[in-house]
Amino acid sequence: MNTALADSTSALAPLGSVGAALNDAFRRILFLPEQASTVAVKVDQLHFFELGLMSLLAAAVGVVGIWFAFRYRQRVAGERTPELVAPLWLELGGALGLLLIFLFWWLLAFRQFVFEKEAPSTAMDVYATGKQWVWKFAYPEGRSSAGVLFVPAGEPVRLLLTSRDVIHSFYVPAFRIKQDAVPGQYTSVWFQAKHPGAYQIFCAELCGVGHSRMWGKVVALDPSDFERWQSGWNPDDAQLADLGIDLGDAVAGDADPFGSAAHGADLAREGLRAATGRGCMRCHTVDGTPHIGPTWRGLFGRVETMKDGSTLRVDEAYITESMMDPEAHIVAGYQPVMPSYLGEISAPETAAIVEYIRTLKAPVPPDSVSPPPAGPVTLTVDSTSQPEERR
Ligand code: CUA
Repeated sequence: MNTALADSTSALAPLGSVGAALNDAFRRILFLPEQASTVAVKVDQLHFFELGLMSLLAAAVGVVGIWFAFRYRQRVAGERTPELVAPLWLELGGALGLLLIFLFWWLLAFRQFVFEKEAPSTAMDVYATGKQWVWKFAYPEGRSSAGVLFVPAGEPVRLLLTSRDVIHSFYVPAFRIKQDAVPGQYTSVWFQAKHPGAYQIFCAELCGVGHSRMWGKVVALDPSDFERWQSGWNPDDAQLADLGIDLGDAVAGDADPFGSAAHGADLAREGLRAATGRGCMRCHTVDGTPHIGPTWRGLFGRVETMKDGSTLRVDEAYITESMMDPEAHIVAGYQPVMPSYLGEISAPETAAIVEYIRTLKAPVPPDSVSPPPAGPVTLTVDSTSQPEERR
């Protein structure tokens, strides 16, 4: 199978089958796994370019060194090497050449960095939590899983990563992505799997005695199979094998790949339940009116002015920080009265509350039902304001 041939993300694509063969040869020489994501080819080819350029430069220095050793050898006893002064054009030209090589390289790498960091706006968000020693995933439609991350092949997926205990690092070699998961913070990484299949996940940050077994698999399903999975289908090993997917020993320890937490329930609904249970609604409204704390309606994505005059865009990281370390950034006009929930509130609850706040878009949809600030507990989520760019 020569997938690189038709791969428009490959810089060697214009070379046709020669380019594909070159790409494959380099990959094998370096013992790299398959290039299973759209970014993998780019990462590899930047790597090949760097190695190739360095090899050429090293070879050039070697050749010049050998030639100099011959050219300036001692021909008679006591002969002294004449003093050599390079002409100015050669010195300046050499410096300029090096600068141009550096700029070209920087340009290539920067373009790639931007591609790697900026998730497409159509990306599906999945919350990923690392804990000693398993990866857990919560999906927007309400399913959850542990050890196995289910995604649609050929579609972009953004992971919002956090940790419940220590720093972990989410690493999928076949996708060429690696991102730390930090307690009390959200980090993100995105990828697009090129084909259905199972791809190894490792933890790449020493996180305790179970670190070496903190692994899992990304299972990329055909989009139609992924839809089925989201609506509750739990494929067994034989059914996965029919799809050409081998889970192997993907799931370590006691992880249940199909999870039970929040099963069948919408993540935002879980978030409302958690927020109500934790008493958030005593100080925050969801109808747009400020109370003891800022309203959650339209909060996500808003630019808030802080007490010290600085401004901040409300994102997953800011909301999480506000829960864990409320006094770090106080919005102008409010008192620092919010207690810290660090250690009180679990990571899945945090993710669910963040997801709930994300769904509260401004203005209030006319037919929405929202819980009163301090009223009885009601379980309603205005489904009309589900983020429309996500499926
Ligand atoms: Cu988690 Cu190493």
